[in-house]
Amino acid sequence: MKSIQTTVVLAMTADGKISPVDPRAPRGSYPVDLAHLEYQVSLADLVLVGAGTIRTEGTAFTICNPELLAARKVRGQSPQPIICVVSGSLDLPPDLPFLSQDIERWIFTTGTGLERSSDATTLHKLAELIDLGDTNLDWDRAYTLIAERGIHNVVALGGGSLTAALAKAGRIDDWWLTIWPVIYGGQHAPTPVEGEGFLPSAAPHLQLIETRQVGSEVFLHYRTLK
Ligand SMILES: NC(=O)c1ccc[n+]([C@@H]2O[C@H](COP(=O)([O-])OP(=O)(O)OC[C@H]3O[C@@H](n4cnc5c(N)ncnc54)[C@H](OP(=O)(O)O)[C@@H]3O)[C@@H](O)[C@H]2O)c1
Repeated sequence: MKSIQTTVVLAMTADGKISPVDPRAPRGSYPVDLAHLEYQVSLADLVLVGAGTIRTEGTAFTICNPELLAARKVRGQSPQPIICVVSGSLDLPPDLPFLSQDIERWIFTTGTGLERSSDATTLHKLAELIDLGDTNLDWDRAYTLIAERGIHNVVALGGGSLTAALAKAGRIDDWWLTIWPVIYGGQHAPTPVEGEGFLPSAAPHLQLIETRQVGSEVFLHYRTLK
């Protein structure tokens, strides 16, 4: 079986924040980074997004560039990748715009989330709800399912909690980190990897594969050493 490649694609400020302290505050616009994000997403069969991000942003990122859409067609991919929101709690309002976007939708969740959510019946009609563990989401089960569905390229778009969970599960192969030329600061502004943190002895170590500078934006491509 061909292995699954998981690439994290995130942008952070020069001081390492992926969002301002107030996540709803308008952010700067970085067209080169946006084009980079669109290209990376266009390579994906499946996009993973944390529930915190989808609750904040409302919609999932989709591909608009006609050349990227044409390239997906040539590769035999659907116009948009499957978008899979990861939500242990299943605390997602059915009127969330993501749930009416014209895309294939999955939600990775837990038995507890399915039991406790008062919206589970409605959500069942809007997305494929996939139970991956009683209280904790089991990433081995998730990746077995991803493989069974014939998916090879997974792109994870954060936020920091989802990235931490994937890193802890040892599932991240590649990292694309953009550095935006701005400082957000703030003790509570999220960073690319949240969670409990790693002891240095258990931390993922990276090899720098490629760097690109466009204007004041920097694009860093790392591979996780395994
Ligand atoms: N600059 C960038 O590139 C970038 C990219 C993405 C996001 N962001 C920003 O980052 C912020 C959100 O980041 P975040 O760290 O707070 O949230 P997040 O990672 O998007 O979502 C966290 C939520 O995802 C679910 N989740 C993640 N891992 C899970 C696991 N292993 N098992 C079960 N559920 C899991 C949980 O949902 P439930 O609570 O439903 O259980 C958790 O509360 C937003 O402000 C967003 O705009 C920035």
